[in-house]
Amino acid sequence: MLLTLILAAAIQLIPAPAQMQVRGGSFKVDPAKMSFVVDPASGLPEEGYTIDITRARLKVVASSEAGLFYACQTLRQLQMADQVGHDALVIPGTTVIPGTTVIPGLTGNLLNLTGNLPCVKITDYPRFRWRGFHVDPCRHFLSVEETKRYIDILSAYKMNVMHWHLTDDQGWRIQILKYPRLTEIGGSRVEFDGSVHEGYYTQEQIREVVAYAAERHVTVVPEIEMPGHSTAAARAYPGLTCTKESISTFYTWGSPDFALCPGREYMFEFLEDVISEVVQLFPSEYIHIGGDECKKDKWEKCPACQARIKAEGLVADAAGTAEEKLQSYAVRRMEGILAAHGRKLVGWDEILEGGLSPNATVMSWRGMEGGIAAALAGHDVIMTPSHDGMYLDHFQGDPKIEPVTIGRYTTLEKAYKYEPVPEELIKNGKASHVLGLQCNTWSEYIYSDSQREYMMFPRAFAVAETAWTPAENKDWESFRVRVDKACRDLDRRGVNYHIPLPEQPGGSCDKLAFQDKAVVSFTTTRPVGKIVYTLDGSEPTSASMAYSKPLEFTESAVLKTASVTSYGKLSPVRTITLTKEEPWPAQPAAAVESGLKAKRADGRFTKAADIKDVPWKDVSIKRLRDLSTLEPFNRNLPDSTVFYAAVAEGFFSVEATDTYRFSSDCDQVWIDGKLLIDNGAEVKRYSRHDAEAVLEAGPHSVKVVFIYNVVGGWNSIRNKTDVLVRRRPDDKFSSIKML
Ligand code: ACM
Ligand code: ZN
Repeated sequence: MLLTLILAAAIQLIPAPAQMQVRGGSFKVDPAKMSFVVDPASGLPEEGYTIDITRARLKVVASSEAGLFYACQTLRQLQMADQVGHDALVIPGTTVIPGTTVIPGLTGNLLNLTGNLPCVKITDYPRFRWRGFHVDPCRHFLSVEETKRYIDILSAYKMNVMHWHLTDDQGWRIQILKYPRLTEIGGSRVEFDGSVHEGYYTQEQIREVVAYAAERHVTVVPEIEMPGHSTAAARAYPGLTCTKESISTFYTWGSPDFALCPGREYMFEFLEDVISEVVQLFPSEYIHIGGDECKKDKWEKCPACQARIKAEGLVADAAGTAEEKLQSYAVRRMEGILAAHGRKLVGWDEILEGGLSPNATVMSWRGMEGGIAAALAGHDVIMTPSHDGMYLDHFQGDPKIEPVTIGRYTTLEKAYKYEPVPEELIKNGKASHVLGLQCNTWSEYIYSDSQREYMMFPRAFAVAETAWTPAENKDWESFRVRVDKACRDLDRRGVNYHIPLPEQPGGSCDKLAFQDKAVVSFTTTRPVGKIVYTLDGSEPTSASMAYSKPLEFTESAVLKTASVTSYGKLSPVRTITLTKEEPWPAQPAAAVESGLKAKRADGRFTKAADIKDVPWKDVSIKRLRDLSTLEPFNRNLPDSTVFYAAVAEGFFSVEATDTYRFSSDCDQVWIDGKLLIDNGAEVKRYSRHDAEAVLEAGPHSVKVVFIYNVVGGWNSIRNKTDVLVRRRPDDKFSSIKML
């Protein structure tokens, strides 16, 4: 029994199978003793399979080709457990390595096995039929090769839908032959610094990706956004909007004020044409029409939209405003267009507003409520609630040290613990309307392939397990151990992923200061092998000193630290400087003035160092927050936008001599003439440059530099241009109070 438990622990499958019995012993791979059978009459569920391995033989039975494919993925992982001959393993699409054994009967998806496999009996099948992952090439484009990589990896973990978000405000990424300007104009954008971000997939490339996915039993569901999130299309064809005005490039995040105009037939003709090309490329049963976050203000003033509202008798009532009903009307017509091609409509949960189309499937992203309402009304739903762990663009560790994201907090554990079937649907007999779940990796703040991988993995593995494994077999403690093996698989594939960083409880900070003594402690978002550190300036290795208890400092130091996984891989290294210092003297009373002195200089500056030899104008502001109010906020950033830099100087006071930690999303913060925070040219959100200083009780001078610009798509005029301070680790940050 004990031996069986040990063996079972050594077999680390993701997703965990429905049933597994470990027999002990192993089978030496020998093609004469192996059989693979696809038997639709096997009685196994759709996509299901059994693997039966004894010392004498290996037998696989599947109900379909998909089941056989999944059996092979399990065998691949069993072989990885054995660690013998892994490098000889052939995963789909790669070259057969000479001298290995090709499993008979598997053409196209070759799986080569060598070495030994543990003796097991596995009976396995998926919990859900929609096991989705989403990629967003609109905000930041990704290549066909990188797209295939996700298909490769995630199909190996038994996911089977790729939701391809192909159109949005910031880019139109699918070639449409009838409307070439969609990609010529809508496929590229000029960013604040003049750089061009562009890319689209030709129809030939799309066919290639769809075929590649199909070989791996992944269905590609394209998304063509309407009527909101369509600025790229409207830039290419201005006649699509209510005002038909020419629209500037949209190079920031969030939704601009333009929607397509459902008042005019042109929008429907356009979408019908687009869909008729889309259905030629994608055999998927479902086509996603977006439908989310549509700003409807322009419809209120548009004669065509208002005429349509009147003609169709769309009146505001409890189900929604007249404009929401207009969106609902447009979605219904989309449903008709798709039905004419024999396809089904899926849309984001906003399609519930104003009344749901008769046969629509709802993708519930703003929470579970939309999905619950739709399922109770008899519609199929896919659960992908953003705040419950399905949005992989959220932070997965301390925002103070992780790369910038769109915000929120989704650890691996949170992603893992998400349960997609709510009690309410079980109680009402509607659970079967939950087709499955999906994780979304929006790419606003994803500036490279490596960063996309970092956000996706390993959290997508957690979603894969929830999508496949019976709920009662899920176990976080077991998963967090098994996930290490999946991460080693990523290493072998050369794919980046997140390793928890050493974090300081109460907020991480790389610039610490103290007068007599500092204590630094670390934790991680989930257990790691160990935390290591050095104090001599050298880069930590897995052999460096292991962290076991809070570190005490009585002298200045440079502390370098990293996490080490159970298999010896290091996380990125953090460098923390600890400065022992005398309190910075309070300013003499005679020097202190109340109020703020401020000035501005107009121009396009990326960082503080760019503000040179510029004419300054004095401005009058009452609070630091006013620094970002010197020009109006306009999310559309018309070409007439005036960008500027502004500097404010004044005094604030601290109540006691102590160490204070400062934080700000402004470009620079100077205290008593010393540069304390410098956000450089980084995206000015979730500042990662908090810094401490030891201050004497009394008044101190502060100078704040703020630049209105767009770095990494973030429009900094949206910032609260405060300087925040806190005294004790468990204090909350609050704004410094200017004298
Ligand atoms: C969405 O995240 N706007 C669907
Ligand atoms: Zn209109």
